[in-house]
Amino acid sequence: MRNLYLNTLDVKKEIIKNPNSSINQILQKETIERFTKNYLAINTAKPTEKDLRKDGIYASYADLYINSAENFLNNKTKKNYNLMVSSCIQCHERFCFGAINTINKLHLK
Ligand code: HEC
Repeated sequence: MRNLYLNTLDVKKEIIKNPNSSINQILQKETIERFTKNYLAINTAKPTEKDLRKDGIYASYADLYINSAENFLNNKTKKNYNLMVSSCIQCHERFCFGAINTINKLHLK
């Protein structure tokens, strides 16, 4: 989860550095490759409380996030980036309040 956060932060930094270019052109290939690995890892990440996985709610939030990450990868707009960050927060509102402030900083203005 930490890697996912740091990797998304890299994506944000690269977007901010080049405010006038299309996001597709500026993102480094390596950043996207790492991102592609990390966003899929959400399904195998182990929540500290094992019971989180049992009722399918965690999995449905994980799917929501994966869909929004794929949406961003297919169409790299600011709007899709922010929707993706919002789906991190949706799961966190349910399972992990602690990190929400940190994740909020990933939003692009
Ligand atoms: C499907 C649910 C879910 C989604 C989606 C999700 N998280 Fe998490 N996250 C958790 C849970 C649960 C924890 C609590 C730590 C644990 O139990 O592994 C956590 C912990 C964290 C932590 C703090 C703990 C650490 O490992 O340092 C950060 C930072 C974090 N998530 C960032 C993100 C970011 C950024 C995204 C989106 C790119 C995201 N999360 C998407 C469920 C989720």
